[in-house]
Amino acid sequence: MIPRKKLIAGNWKMNKTSADGVALVRDIVAAVGKQSEVEVVVCPPFTALESAARALEGSNVKLGAQNMHFESSGAFTGEVSAPMLRAIFTTHVILGHSERRSYFGETDALVNQKVIAALKNQLRPIFCVGESLAERESGSTLKVVQTQVERGLEGVSKELGQGIVVAYEPVWAIGTGKVASTDQAQEVHAFIRGLLVKLFGEPVAQKVRILYGGSMKPANAPELLAQKDIDGGLIGGASLEARSFVELVNAAAAIK
Ligand code: PGA
Repeated sequence: MIPRKKLIAGNWKMNKTSADGVALVRDIVAAVGKQSEVEVVVCPPFTALESAARALEGSNVKLGAQNMHFESSGAFTGEVSAPMLRAIFTTHVILGHSERRSYFGETDALVNQKVIAALKNQLRPIFCVGESLAERESGSTLKVVQTQVERGLEGVSKELGQGIVVAYEPVWAIGTGKVASTDQAQEVHAFIRGLLVKLFGEPVAQKVRILYGGSMKPANAPELLAQKDIDGGLIGGASLEARSFVELVNAAAAIK
């Protein structure tokens, strides 16, 4: 079986002006723009996407957005569509991030519409799932993740399923400095892989990358990334500085 290429994606959230973003992308490109062992994606805010696209031109670093609408165009004030993202060379899009779910009321059904729209427009969704602290403490982690995966990927064909990246992000670990233990993370990643087998069959499920997200840092990344079903990271805080982000890429490259 061909090993899955590790993927390190930086989720900048609502940080960086367009000029600050260009500076960060230049530093990242200078350090890891030529390597191809690890797939590297930066996800700036919408206002920095186009300038970031220019700054990463000619490198192996790819561009992701943090959200999108499921319709291609129309009267949806404040929204951005998949074709608009594609037109500025975006290849990935984070969908269903827990901050979108909790602060902006995104439901599994809405996330599902977005996932399908992204895939149909040749954008690779980084589809996020994860339980809250209360859900973990009450023992319902796997049930919650199962519901999010099954509803979020409903109606996605086997063929389109190959284009997905899943990110497991325990909500209690995001931006808190509390990282899931390697055992906690690997357990959920293996569980998600099993759900993908049911949805898409073994060959597709073995190809899909499942990223861990939630306070991943250079110090804890090597152990997490060495787990069998952890295929990379979705990085928030540590993606805002070139040095820590590059260290994470190098940590992923060092796993054999
Ligand atoms: P964090 O964020 O690395 O700052 O915890 C991860 C994410 O929300 O994607």
